[in-house]
Amino acid sequence: MTDLTARLRELQAGDLPVHGGRTLAYVYDSGLAEVDAVGRAAVAQFAGSNGLDPTAFPSLLTMENDLVGFACDLLDAPPGAVGTATSGGTESVLLAVQSARDARPEVTRPRMVAPDTAHAAFHKAAHYFGVELVLVPVGADFRADVAAMTAAVDEAPERTVLVVTSAPSYAHGVVDPVTELAAMAAARGIRCHVDACIGGWVLPYAARLGRAVPPWTFAVEGVTSISVDLHKYAYAPKGASLLLHRTAAQRRPQFFAAAGWPGYTMLNSTMQSTKSGGPLAGAWAVVQTLGDAGYERLTRDVFEAVDRIVAGLASEAGLAPLRLVVSPDSTLVAMATDATCDAFTVCDEMAARGWYVQPQMSYAGQPPTVHLSVSAATLPLVDEFLAALADAVAAAVAAGPVTVDPDVAAYIAALDPATLSDADFDGLLAASGLVGEAGGAGSGGLALPERMAEVNAMLDVASPAMREALLVAFLGRLSTPTRR
Ligand SMILES: Cc1ncc(COP(=O)(O)O)c(C=O)c1O
Repeated sequence: MTDLTARLRELQAGDLPVHGGRTLAYVYDSGLAEVDAVGRAAVAQFAGSNGLDPTAFPSLLTMENDLVGFACDLLDAPPGAVGTATSGGTESVLLAVQSARDARPEVTRPRMVAPDTAHAAFHKAAHYFGVELVLVPVGADFRADVAAMTAAVDEAPERTVLVVTSAPSYAHGVVDPVTELAAMAAARGIRCHVDACIGGWVLPYAARLGRAVPPWTFAVEGVTSISVDLHKYAYAPKGASLLLHRTAAQRRPQFFAAAGWPGYTMLNSTMQSTKSGGPLAGAWAVVQTLGDAGYERLTRDVFEAVDRIVAGLASEAGLAPLRLVVSPDSTLVAMATDATCDAFTVCDEMAARGWYVQPQMSYAGQPPTVHLSVSAATLPLVDEFLAALADAVAAAVAAGPVTVDPDVAAYIAALDPATLSDADFDGLLAASGLVGEAGGAGSGGLALPERMAEVNAMLDVASPAMREALLVAFLGRLSTPTRR
């Protein structure tokens, strides 16, 4: 038993820390140890409970309805609004798309129209559900372009089952013009989803605190569904999100029942069937513990941290090679670098200083950026963060540009992402020096460098389709069984 605990600790030591406020993507840290403890205890208590059947585990139904009710109040839902707990943002998005598609069975070639900043979960939904994804370039302010979105819808309004908006977008942290887009969709009888997976639990409190937040909730006419994650800014343990619909009729196609087999009648509200009650109970416990007062305090803290980071970027000489891509509406910050400073190297240098900041690849003519999802727990560390960032920038400037070997770039350019083979991938690994003989357990024989800037630079010269193919091949190598 002790050996196992020690081994688990040893395994976890290689992971990013989930506490401490220094991991600025993937995890959201309230900094409140007692809140985490309550959430984790509830996860453990309900880990074996099965959300498959609400009559067998009524506790889970009660907690789900409590959470949806809380979210309805937060998101200005009218009477009659309903919701479902899901496993995460992607599942909420998938179900929003699936229910929009299945509400229109007469449409044989369904399409959805989204700004090109919409989360990749919509690409996945398009792929899974055979819905064409029409991506519309955003405007210079990184927000959805209403005229261009309208024109895209009007190319085939009869086939358009969904208009997508974000509050905010992940990559840039800005809120789309939801009022205009929802009205445009409603005028054509089309659903409008607001993806508030990352902002949905923090923006309403920001508005209550008097910050200027563009309208995006159910208060906006024409918004038909909203996704909001509990495992992000509700600071709940992983595995919990909500999908809300304005009416029960709009949610109805999301439900699935199968009685045509000899076993139990399967009745599901989500993609999963058997599902652990743990994440739901964990989220319920955290939301009950924090309540509106707790979230208001955490929102005040996280925005103070964001404001100080933004102010530091504008004023600190050591941060001059960095530039804020756009003033954030929420708690996400995107920074670009000037020609003297490589963005990917900044990420590596921050990692060397104990901070995780996330590299974002170039896209649609925009350069690579450094992403921060700021947490409340980061507030006491902002000065330390800015100092580490200035050091990281100085080190990146001193290291100079990261260049991709022209032979590697040529090799990549000659590959066809649609048919990328194992041999092609091996060739690329060899050409790029990434191939490893040793490779410890779980490495799939790949020797990953400590510093990722060269790998990221190599991926950055590839097209998005090529990046996808390379990363899928990479995942295939990583994901190999450890045989006894
Ligand atoms: C706006 C938005 N939508 C959807 C998702 C997907 O959420 P998840 O990673 O929980 O599946 C994210 C995750 O960051 C997001 O920011």
